[in-house]
Amino acid sequence: MNFEDFPPENAHRILAPRPTVIITTVNKKGEINAAPFSFVMPVSMNPPILAFASAPSHDTNLNVEETKEFVVNLTPADILQKMWITGEKLPYGENELVKAGLNSIPSKIVLAPRIVESMAHLECKVLKIMEVGDHNLITAYVVHASIQENCLKNGLLDVEKVKPILHLGGTDFVVGNNLKKVE
Ligand SMILES: Cc1cc2nc3c(=O)[nH]c(=O)nc-3n(C[C@H](O)[C@H](O)[C@H](O)COP(=O)(O)O)c2cc1C
Repeated sequence: MNFEDFPPENAHRILAPRPTVIITTVNKKGEINAAPFSFVMPVSMNPPILAFASAPSHDTNLNVEETKEFVVNLTPADILQKMWITGEKLPYGENELVKAGLNSIPSKIVLAPRIVESMAHLECKVLKIMEVGDHNLITAYVVHASIQENCLKNGLLDVEKVKPILHLGGTDFVVGNNLKKVE
């Protein structure tokens, strides 16, 4: 068996495909921001805590530092193109959801909004922000979760219905609806 060396700085290309979400935030003025993130993971179940890594220069990071809140919005396959548009760098304070043609509704607890076209939302309040390499690692309590009716099957995400998207790298995504069970 031959193994080729692979650049360690591309480790994220091996830890792939990764679930991709759109994170919504607001700044102190209440201006909405949205951007895709795939460096996202659950960290603790009780209490529920998740983490994501953001480049410090991103508006998302600036807003999270300012207001200490955000919403993780699940990204189904049918909004893949719109998710991509939210990844464009717009001037600070401009709302990517408007540019992408995505709709928002107020959250239950935090000020950042939930995306209507996302089938599930995790409202979060920041626990800690740590500088880690060239990213900031943001850990946060999940203070409210919501999911659209009929998107669960036996308590799990109904992937055949939701078709969550997974980022492979660059412009390549995998649609996560290929369910396989262990025997
Ligand atoms: C699929 C995808 C996943 C991304 N994941 C991350 C990520 O995990 N961390 C990060 O810092 N940037 C990530 N980015 C880049 C940001 O979304 C992008 O730079 C965006 O413009 C930042 O927007 P903002 O300045 O409004 O926060 C990702 C982009 C795409 C398209």
